[in-house]
Amino acid sequence: MISIKSPSLTPVPCAQALLGVGCLAFALLAFMLVRQLVKQRRPPGFPPGPSPIPVIGNIFSLATEPHVFLKKQSEVHGQIFSLDLGGILTVVLNGYDCVRECLYHQSEVFADRPSLPLFKKMTKMGGLLNCKYGKGWNEHRKLACSSFRYFGSGQKLFEKKISEECMFFVDAIDEHKGKPFNPKHLVTNAVSNITNLIIFGQRFTYDDRNFQHMIEIFSENVELAVSGWALLYNAFPCIEYVPFGKHQKLFRNAAEVYNFLQEVINGFSQGRVPHVPRHYVDAYLDELEQNAGHHGSSFSYENLIYSVGELIIAGTETTTNTLRWAMLYMALYPNIQERVHKEIDSVLSNGRAPTLEDKQRMPYVEAVLHEILRFCNIVPLGIFRATSQDAKVNGYTIPKGTMVITNLYSVHFDEKYWNDPGVFSPERFLDSSGNFVRREAFLPFSLGKASFLKTSINYDWLNQVIPQRLSCVFADLR
Ligand code: HEM
Repeated sequence: MISIKSPSLTPVPCAQALLGVGCLAFALLAFMLVRQLVKQRRPPGFPPGPSPIPVIGNIFSLATEPHVFLKKQSEVHGQIFSLDLGGILTVVLNGYDCVRECLYHQSEVFADRPSLPLFKKMTKMGGLLNCKYGKGWNEHRKLACSSFRYFGSGQKLFEKKISEECMFFVDAIDEHKGKPFNPKHLVTNAVSNITNLIIFGQRFTYDDRNFQHMIEIFSENVELAVSGWALLYNAFPCIEYVPFGKHQKLFRNAAEVYNFLQEVINGFSQGRVPHVPRHYVDAYLDELEQNAGHHGSSFSYENLIYSVGELIIAGTETTTNTLRWAMLYMALYPNIQERVHKEIDSVLSNGRAPTLEDKQRMPYVEAVLHEILRFCNIVPLGIFRATSQDAKVNGYTIPKGTMVITNLYSVHFDEKYWNDPGVFSPERFLDSSGNFVRREAFLPFSLGKASFLKTSINYDWLNQVIPQRLSCVFADLR
């Protein structure tokens, strides 16, 4: 006969086990909490800042219009202050003097990018935009800038190609026969085609749905990557394992974009003759082959995909938004629009197509474009930087690897350098004779170290190319 042992004995180990697991979970939680609170402590000599909430710090304060919030905080804590982004200690630079002190006078110290979990996941800190400061950044930037000069601004033919793109653009507008429409997609396509000419040697037609879709989801990712949610992900990367949410959307979009780019790169590299590059992709593949087997070379097929994607999106989002603001402000200020038209018409008599040389004869157009870039703050917080070594600024000590936010909006609204910064006034870029004048506190492209690279790769290049492109497209809109 089978006897049944006392059933009351079994729940005891089960309860003990449960208690053990509970204690372990509690200990783990307590450990994580203490670790987080230790991470949130400001190191000695670190700039002060607004009080953080335990665990999440100041993340929620940056949820809407962070540039405006940060400028207001600078009025309380000074031009340089600190934030706690959920355990990621961050320094914020405000106003022209402070930004110049760090990005110009200590350019190498402030030239790095922060090793944030999101950047690590998306591009493994490679590519161009979020690349760490060092050999990889140097090699990729050098190749990108020389390609842009060689296949772009350095060629007379390129100017003709920009004019051709303008004609496609104007024809597409004409198809709407004067009826209202949202120009966003058209402007995006036209603008990205200028970069596409350099990267792939060819443009994409305005009805190419695949290309349009790629740009759309890439833009969506750019928005997600600068949202409050991305700050949360960087502070608590374990969010990655939650199977739903915006991070999953971002990963899906990124996978789709990279697949598309891979196909396009393969297509445009067909028929390539080594050392006779037709475009950026060919030039990159030449570098890749030449450096194959070189220990520590940063050129890789993966980095080619990241770089191509980043060049397309960096050029497209920014320039497109600038032109969209330009259209809006021309509609808001008909008197400015009229002066712009008059100047363009006086320089381009008989319907002649514009050339880059015409830019010098259009000081008012130039002033309007500069005021749009100042007033509309296309990239208000720049791209996050990091210190490459320990730094001293205004008596504060900033350890190596600290994340740095450059509040470019606060530079463009710095009352020490701009009268009535909240007023849209192109005249501030003109002298009393109507000539265009540069203003030192104009930093839409941020500031960087020029002498570090021997190849004249610096923001002057961007400063030169972008307004030229804008005035060409702009002139053709008249
Ligand atoms: C109105 C147009 C543009 C604006 C306002 C703009 C603004 C900026 C800003 C603020 C940065 C961050 C710089 C920093 O870290 O301090 C940046 C970086 C960058 N931009 Fe632009 N940009 C524009 C157009 C373009 C175009 C047309 C391209 C190329 C096709 C481009 C490529 C890049 C690249 C590659 C970087 C990263 C540079 C690096 O980390 O070394 N941008 N841009």
